[in-house]
Amino acid sequence: MENASSTAPLQPAIHMSPPHSILGAKLLSYCCVAIGTALLLAWLIRSKTQHRAIPVPLYKAPKAKWIFSAETLVKDSYRKVCAFSLRLQHVLRARRPLTTAQFQDRVYQIRGTEGVQLVLPANYVGELKILPEDVLSAKEAIADVREHPGRLPLHRALQSKYTKFSPGHNAELLTLLLRTRLTQNLVRLAPQLKEELEHIVATEFPACDDWTPVKWHPFALRAVTRLSGRAFVGPGISRQEQWMDTSINFAVHVFMAGAKLQLFPEWARPVTQYLVTDLGKIRRDIERATAMIRPVLEERIRDLDSPGCEDPPNDMMQWLIEALPDDEKADVRTQAELQLVVAAASIHTTHGLLCECMYDLAAHQDIQEELREEAHQVLEEEEGWGLKESMARLKKMDSFMREVQRLRGNIVSFLRKVMQPISLSDGTQLPVGTRVVAPLAGIAHDERFFPNPDRFDPLRFYRLRRESAEANNRLQFTSIGDTYVNFGAGRHACPGRFFASNEIKLVLARFVLGYHVRLRPGDERPKPMSIVMTKSPSPNAVLEFRRRA
Ligand code: HEM
Repeated sequence: MENASSTAPLQPAIHMSPPHSILGAKLLSYCCVAIGTALLLAWLIRSKTQHRAIPVPLYKAPKAKWIFSAETLVKDSYRKVCAFSLRLQHVLRARRPLTTAQFQDRVYQIRGTEGVQLVLPANYVGELKILPEDVLSAKEAIADVREHPGRLPLHRALQSKYTKFSPGHNAELLTLLLRTRLTQNLVRLAPQLKEELEHIVATEFPACDDWTPVKWHPFALRAVTRLSGRAFVGPGISRQEQWMDTSINFAVHVFMAGAKLQLFPEWARPVTQYLVTDLGKIRRDIERATAMIRPVLEERIRDLDSPGCEDPPNDMMQWLIEALPDDEKADVRTQAELQLVVAAASIHTTHGLLCECMYDLAAHQDIQEELREEAHQVLEEEEGWGLKESMARLKKMDSFMREVQRLRGNIVSFLRKVMQPISLSDGTQLPVGTRVVAPLAGIAHDERFFPNPDRFDPLRFYRLRRESAEANNRLQFTSIGDTYVNFGAGRHACPGRFFASNEIKLVLARFVLGYHVRLRPGDERPKPMSIVMTKSPSPNAVLEFRRRA
């Protein structure tokens, strides 16, 4: 069940192709050191001179904090209290701050590895999320290839020009299919996903007749990959080991290639790309995916011309065949690239949250029992596994997942780049090229939005949802809002969140009904790991499972 690749996105190490001779190796490494030093210098100078471009406060913190403790940095900056107010509080010996936190409601800046970021509190997210892509771009924020040529690694930018991590001209079509066909088909997919999960548990999860230590992270990664694959390419492909490897590792290779390419200035990348071995791995991933998809796609295209056969398959591959323009329907390369992009967007995100949920279940026995009772009633007593509204009726579980995501979710969200000058309601002018982020970790701990914010309260949203019909809709796991940006905001908000919600509920319900889970005696709840803006669940945590009688 071990899968070393599951931790790979967090490794900052740079691995270059082996040179042909020792002399060559030395020359190459000298060159890399020289280029690296020059870039480091340029980066330090540029980021020092550039941060004053927009007249809003800059939160001063060492850059190392951005790399190694971005969550603390975002929380601290968000809560920063005006220095003058602190001095006055001291002089007057007041017990409480004389003003509320200064930064949480205003735009401010943080210096990160990829330059200065403009941080937008919740009220400004509401203001900007309605802007069109040609004014404020999500795509440019992650696929940036022109801006900041001298910036150093671990950049979020995924360098899609080289890594091919982009649905290209089919981006809107793909998002539309996820938002409509995938979401509308959740009920029809439910029995297939349940069957797939049963198969995975039977073949890959230990018997657990007594308390048995299990590494949840690698098991959950394989489970999520198999479930997603069932909905995206169908069981003929999704059950192949090579598909599992390829769809898990494509995202890892893209992340590593993007980070390494950032070591070099843009003008050098057409040449230096050949030093980045991960680009070769990406090409191999695409070739493998193409080879696996080809026979299935050819058969489905043939079936299009023979009406009267059985019902067409109900998966993403089929929806793409139906929706792509005629000249692309049978294009196996297009299908392979789009499938890998969806896998990359869905697997690691869903897996991350599923892990954090299981770690919290193991650490909080009381909520485990509550969720078990609810799942028992909805899914077993009322035989709801195949019923339309069952997953929506798991309201305690829904609240638990939202609370886990609030506290263990990502650090920033709503990454955008300004493409045309923007004037904010407070008069701040955002020039073209400004990068903006929402301080997710700060908003999630703001007591105005979440009373007693540091407390893990799994039924927090369950109680609130009972207060009114409006709250019942607004506070579901999949409901987004300006103070809940875990799935982003506006037109680019995650279109796969309804599928992710059902997938996570399915696995959690199956496990609370089938097993008791706990931490190993003496263990603490596994802590997430974080580097730059990326947070991921502990990969090595061991939990104990015991099958229920
Ligand atoms: C718990 C699981 C997930 C989380 C936390 C998550 C989170 C996000 C976030 C934060 C964004 C960026 C939104 C923005 O910038 O406004 C996003 C976009 C996206 N997500 Fe998810 N996601 C998850 C699962 C999925 C799944 C299962 C799929 C596919 C079935 C998916 C497909 C996408 C796509 C295609 C986009 C790009 C949308 C666009 O740019 O228009 N995600 N997701």
